[in-house]
Amino acid sequence: MNAIVTARNVSQVYEVRRGLFQKPLDLKAVKDASFVVEQGETLAIVGESGCGKSTLARMLTMIETPSQGELDVDGVRVSGDHPGDIRKLRSTVQIVFQNPYGALNPRQKVGAIIEEPLKINTGLSRAERRRKAETALAKVGLRPEHYDRYPHMFSGGQRQRVAIARAIILEPKILVLDEPVSALDVSIQAQILNLLADLQERLNLTYIFISHDLSVVRHVADRVMVMYLGRPVEIASVDALYTNPLHPYTRALLSATPATDPGKKTQRIRLTGELPSPFDPPPGCAFHPRCPYANDRCRSELPILVEHGPTKVACFAVEEGRLPPA
Ligand SMILES: Nc1ncnc2c1ncn2[C@@H]1O[C@H](COP(=O)(O)OP(=O)(O)OP(=O)(O)O)[C@@H](O)[C@H]1O
Ligand SMILES: [Mg+2]
Repeated sequence: MNAIVTARNVSQVYEVRRGLFQKPLDLKAVKDASFVVEQGETLAIVGESGCGKSTLARMLTMIETPSQGELDVDGVRVSGDHPGDIRKLRSTVQIVFQNPYGALNPRQKVGAIIEEPLKINTGLSRAERRRKAETALAKVGLRPEHYDRYPHMFSGGQRQRVAIARAIILEPKILVLDEPVSALDVSIQAQILNLLADLQERLNLTYIFISHDLSVVRHVADRVMVMYLGRPVEIASVDALYTNPLHPYTRALLSATPATDPGKKTQRIRLTGELPSPFDPPPGCAFHPRCPYANDRCRSELPILVEHGPTKVACFAVEEGRLPPA
């Protein structure tokens, strides 16, 4: 196994001003995230809205620099001490966003949209760019005549194909997919997921697949990282996560997912209470106010990710053996 991304204690803090005359507050969107992504795998990142998934995506694609921590991408130190030459990575990581409507410029023809990264990052001639764009269109299941059309002439699924064509045109190694099918009809979702699986195999891509939909993740991921309020709380293989979820938050998320196997009765944990404010996270384990297994230690001490078999989990109930079997 060969790590293509390594994050060590990566954090992102935003200064947020909530009123004109108020002091800015620090919002810790991602806190101490440590994980690796193996070459060729699909790592899914899941968790409730606001838990920091897109923030992590922006750091992994170098749209934003982490405020703390070390991030290595494809052998280059992106952030931390002694950063390397990140220009080398301009074509290495590309991102596909959720919203195929907002992500494409409505005034540009599809051909121009797909070729834009080539225009910015390469010295290819117009004819060469067009040839590459047509190849990319074919790879995502679109036709050469689509080159001269505008995004509004496409369906949602086709637009997401255009976004994917644009993402692969520089021949990246890593695609960050931020809710790539969430805005699409279920029937179209399957087509796009099949396309992504096919491209991953043909182009030898590594995927970071962000989703709030655990039933989609089960089908696409090799491993899953569950985040809660900016922190990874469980990192596990898909098999382990769905058969033996450890963190009470993971169990709660799975309880809220329609059963893929209706015959199986799992102990259900209901998520009660609101997600706490990221400005003022609870002390100790941030999940403790919503956790049925919380004790005094959970209310005061911060659990870190610890290996538990092949899984990593940040939970004192697991560590202390007080968690009932799933
Ligand atoms: N540029 C920003 N400035 C200030 N706060 C931000 C910024 N971007 C994100 N945040 C805050 O950081 C936290 C994490 O946001 P993020 O968008 O990463 O969550 P997410 O997991 O992608 O959520 P969703 O599932 O809704 O897309 C949220 O509390 C959000 O309000
Ligand atoms: Mg998001």
